[in-house]
Amino acid sequence: MFEVITSCWYIVVRRRTTTHPFFMLANLNQFGTIVIITAVAEKFAEQKNALNLAKAMPDPSTLPFVEISVTCTGGKEIKLIGKELAWSLQYAPSQGYLPLLKKIREFQEHWHKPIYNDWDTVLTCGSMEGCSKVFEMVLENGDPMMAQVPTYDGVLGVLIPLEPEFIGIEQDEDGIIPANIAKVCEERRRSGKPMPKILYVNPTGGNPTGTVLTDSRKRQIYELAETYNFLILEDDPYSFVHFLDKAPATFLELDTKGRVIRLDSISKVISPGLRLGVVTGHKEIIKRLTAHMETTSIHPSSLSQAVSILAKLIREEIKKLD
Ligand SMILES: Cc1ncc(COP(=O)(O)O)c(C=O)c1O
Repeated sequence: MFEVITSCWYIVVRRRTTTHPFFMLANLNQFGTIVIITAVAEKFAEQKNALNLAKAMPDPSTLPFVEISVTCTGGKEIKLIGKELAWSLQYAPSQGYLPLLKKIREFQEHWHKPIYNDWDTVLTCGSMEGCSKVFEMVLENGDPMMAQVPTYDGVLGVLIPLEPEFIGIEQDEDGIIPANIAKVCEERRRSGKPMPKILYVNPTGGNPTGTVLTDSRKRQIYELAETYNFLILEDDPYSFVHFLDKAPATFLELDTKGRVIRLDSISKVISPGLRLGVVTGHKEIIKRLTAHMETTSIHPSSLSQAVSILAKLIREEIKKLD
């Protein structure tokens, strides 16, 4: 089954990349050569006293900052000086700063315990950026997709220019109704219409309804995704903002095949202004999203990611919630 979904989005990505002007100018062999030269140059630049002129990176000592300090609630002070300051003012890897990625991975393992091994994460400028990049990757004009209705208006804003076939799935007090998904998919299968490629859902504290999708419905929906072969985009910024005794299960926890793309955000628990979100999913999907980051925002703010701010705050948040 996974082969089928991967091939469905591979086709989308391949079609887009091969018609891209870059690939019309440089064939794939040349692109491979560029990748190898870049890797060798990066290795060389790691050596002591090497001066890397390849990436238009400014010398941090010429930048107008000597120290950045932050005082957190509770009085903890975080100072960025020396190497950490230099890093937080510099361009960074597009997937995210490695020590932070490692922390985020631990975070996902702690909270969502993914069952399959081939998952990975990429950092984005908030979950909204992750959401729009996923839709741009998966959907072509006219492609059918499903979303909970009412739908978060920010997402509608992303979808309108992509012009997919929007299929609304109603909700009740327990979130989206699996029987409605089954009805839509079965009718389409019977009439030979293309099947929806993806389902967009806010499982906890759905925007704008505030509903929490029950765990049993999540299981039913995951089974439907297996039967009808669609991806699930789990946009869950309110995951930790609920009034339940026990944290609800997530689609990522149920995923055995890599068909769930999970969006996390620090916006509701640390700060929306830091603009930091996380996309977690199958590593092939993450590879393509990272490539898209490289050519758009390049990466989320290095300052927002700075280990001594975020890694520590995220660790504190885990402790508080445990
Ligand atoms: C459901 C949902 N997704 C995404 C976002 C945007 O989050 P971020 O600040 O991480 O981009 C919001 C913000 O309100 C939201 O309600």
